[in-house]
Amino acid sequence: MSEHNTRAEILGNPIDRVDGPAKVTGQARYAAEQVGSKEVLTGWPVGATIAKGKITGIDTSAAEQAPGVRCVLTYKNAPEQNPFGEPADEGRFTQSRALLRVADVRHYGEPVALVVAQTLEQARYAASLVEVSYDAETPAQFLSASDATLVPEELDGGFEPDAETGDWQTELRNARYSISQRYSTPRQISAAMEPHASIAHYDGENLTLHSSVQILASAIPALANTLNIPPENIRVHSPFVGGGFGSKLGLHYDAILASLASMVTGQAVKVVLSRRQVFYQTPHRGNSRQDIKLGCDNDGALTAIRHTSAMPTARNYDFAEAPGAVARVTYQSRSISSTHRICVTDTPAIDSTRAPGDAIGSLAFEAAIDELAARAGIDPLTFRLNNMPDYHPVSQAPFTSHRLGDCLRDGAEKFQWGTKAPEADGKKRGLGVASAMRLNMFVASEARLSLDKNGHFTVQTDMTDIGTGTYTILTQIVADYFDVPMEQVTVSLGDSDYPTSCGSGGSFGAASAGSSVLRACQQMAEELSQHLPSNATGEGMRLHEDTLMYVRSGGGEEKIRLTELLPPSKPELSVIGAVNDEDTSDNPQYSCGAHFAEVEVDTVTGEVKLVRQLGVFSAGKILNHKTAASQLKGGMVWGAGYALREHLMYDHETASFINPDLAEYHIAVNRDIGDMEVHFIEEPDYDASPLGAKGIGELGITGAGAAIANAVFDAVGVRVRKYPITPDKVLSGLD
Ligand code: MOS
Repeated sequence: MSEHNTRAEILGNPIDRVDGPAKVTGQARYAAEQVGSKEVLTGWPVGATIAKGKITGIDTSAAEQAPGVRCVLTYKNAPEQNPFGEPADEGRFTQSRALLRVADVRHYGEPVALVVAQTLEQARYAASLVEVSYDAETPAQFLSASDATLVPEELDGGFEPDAETGDWQTELRNARYSISQRYSTPRQISAAMEPHASIAHYDGENLTLHSSVQILASAIPALANTLNIPPENIRVHSPFVGGGFGSKLGLHYDAILASLASMVTGQAVKVVLSRRQVFYQTPHRGNSRQDIKLGCDNDGALTAIRHTSAMPTARNYDFAEAPGAVARVTYQSRSISSTHRICVTDTPAIDSTRAPGDAIGSLAFEAAIDELAARAGIDPLTFRLNNMPDYHPVSQAPFTSHRLGDCLRDGAEKFQWGTKAPEADGKKRGLGVASAMRLNMFVASEARLSLDKNGHFTVQTDMTDIGTGTYTILTQIVADYFDVPMEQVTVSLGDSDYPTSCGSGGSFGAASAGSSVLRACQQMAEELSQHLPSNATGEGMRLHEDTLMYVRSGGGEEKIRLTELLPPSKPELSVIGAVNDEDTSDNPQYSCGAHFAEVEVDTVTGEVKLVRQLGVFSAGKILNHKTAASQLKGGMVWGAGYALREHLMYDHETASFINPDLAEYHIAVNRDIGDMEVHFIEEPDYDASPLGAKGIGELGITGAGAAIANAVFDAVGVRVRKYPITPDKVLSGLD
C-alpha cells in the first residue's frame, strides 16, 4: 500500500476507460435513457418569440385536444414556485430557476408552455398548436464596450474584478515599444454532444430526477429552492454525462420542466432539449470587448500590461468571467492593470463555457503579446521566454510550481519552431506560439470506500464523469494504492445519496475527487490494520484477492483471509475519505502549457487550413496519460473552433440568435484539424493536492486559439482582432 503512489504502476498509465465497453455497447445509460417500469410521458417546451415583455394571451385548447396530449402547462396552471433568482445569496447554481411562473418573459426562447404527451412526436406536434400573444418591451442589450459600466462583485474563479501593480500609465508612456488594440470575441456556446435531458418523477412526496448535470451537490438545493420540496426528499442521478463544458454545472430548463410536469401528472416525465432549444434554454458565453495596451523596453522586457474587459451578463443570473486573468499571471511586468466591467442584459443565461475567462482572454492577450514582439522585432517565442515570472506578477506570492518556460522550450524543440513545410502556389505557411496558464482550483470532496470479504473494493461518490475519465482514474487510484487489479475495484458515481463531491467543473474534478479517494484508501489501510492479529507489525500489508498479507513481529510474511480477519458482525469495511481547503496551499496554483500551430493560408480565398498543433503541458501528476491527453486534444480542437469558426450570431432587432444550431454554428470538425500532438512535463505538485495532480480540462483550450491566430499573422501578415478569423476577414486584410 503506497504513499504518494510512488510506484506509479497503475496510476498514470494510459489505461483504457473502464466504462468504455459499456459506452460503446449502449449499456451506459444517459439521463434520457433511464427507463423504469413506469410509463414515461414526454414534455416539449414552447419558446417565447420575444426577448422581454408580457404574455397577453395564451391559447392551449387546440394543443390540449391533440392526440396523446396529457396536459399543457403554462404560467396559469403550473405548480407554485419561488421567484426566479431567489435566494440569490448562494449564487446562481442554487437559486430558484422557476419557469412558467409568471406572465413575464425574461429572454427570447424562454419556455412559455410545456406540452406533455404520450410520445415525443405528439408533444412536439401539439406544441406547434399553442398560440401566444405578447406585449413586447425593449430588451437591455450589450451593444458597445461603454455599455458595460457595472463592477462585478467577484469574477468566476474567485478573482477580484480589478487588479493593479505598478503605474501602467507612466510605464506605457516610457516604453520603448508599445501596442494598443481592441480584440473582440463573439458569443459562443458549449454545445455538448448529449443535449440537456431530464426524467423527473414526483410521487407526491419525493422527487427523483435523472439529469445530465456536472455537479449534484448544487442540483438538490436548486430543485428545493425552485419547487419548495424539502432537499431530503430529492434524489438526483447523473451516472453518465455526454459532455458539459460548463453548460451543465447547474440544472437547466429540462430539469425544472420535467419536475413541474411530473408534479402535475403524477407520472414520470422526460424532457430532452432539441439542439435549438439547447441554444436558448441553457447557458452560452457572452461576447467580449478586450482593450489591451502593452509596453516593453529595448530588450523586450515587459514594462506595462493594461487589460480591460467588457462583457454582458444575464439579468438575475450573476456570472462574470475573467478574460483578464491571463494578463495578470502569465508574464512578469513592472506594471499590470486589469479591470472587468459588465452590462446586465435580457438574454438567455450567460455562464461558464469551456474554460471561462482564459479561453477568450488568451485569444486576445496572447495575440497582443505577439503584436508587441513583432513591433520590438523579437521572435515571439524568445519574447515570451524573456518574460517568465518567478513569482505571481501581481501578488508577488510564490507559485506552488511553474513550468511555463519548460513547456515553451520543450514544445519549441518538439515542434521544430522556425521550420515550415514548403509553400505551394498561392498558399502561405505560418507558425504561431502561445502560452497557457490556467488557475488550479481545489474543491472539498468526499468519497466512500468499501471492502467486502471477497477483497472487492467499491467507491461511491456523487462525483460525475462528463466524458473526462472519472470512472477510470478513481479505479486506478484504488487499484494502485492496494496493488490490486483494476477488476477488483468498482466505482459508482452520480447519485446524490452518495457522499458529496466537488462534481465536475473548473478543471477541479480529478485532483479534488481523486484526493478524497486517496484519503479513503489511507483510512481503509488504517482500518484494516486495526483488525490485524496481535502478532502483526502493521508493516507490508498487501491484498491478494480475498487474502491479506502482513508482516508478523519477528519477521516473515503471514496471510489471513478477509473472512477470518473481519468479524462476522462487520463483514464489510467502509470508510469515508474527505478533503477540503486545508489540503491545498494558499499560494497561487496554475497548470501551464505551451501551444504551437502551423497553418496554411490560401491567399486567393482567405481560407486558413490548420496543418499541425502541438502542446506541451505541465499539470502536476498525470493520473492517466490517455484520458489526460484526450482532454487536452479536445481543448485544442475547441481552440481551433474559437480562432477560426465559432460565432454565435446575435440579431439585435429581436435579441435572438441567428444561428442556433450545429448546422450554422460552426464548431471545428475532423477535417478542420491537422496533426495533433500532446506532451507532458510531469511534476507532481503536492502543494496543489494530496494526489499531486492539477487541473487539465481547461488548460488545453487556453492559448490554443491564439497560437493559430499568431500563425495566421506569421503566414500573411494579417492580424484579425475580431474573432473568429473567417476567410472574408483574412481577405480584406490582404487587399
Ligand atoms: Mo467548466 S466551463 O467550469 O465545466
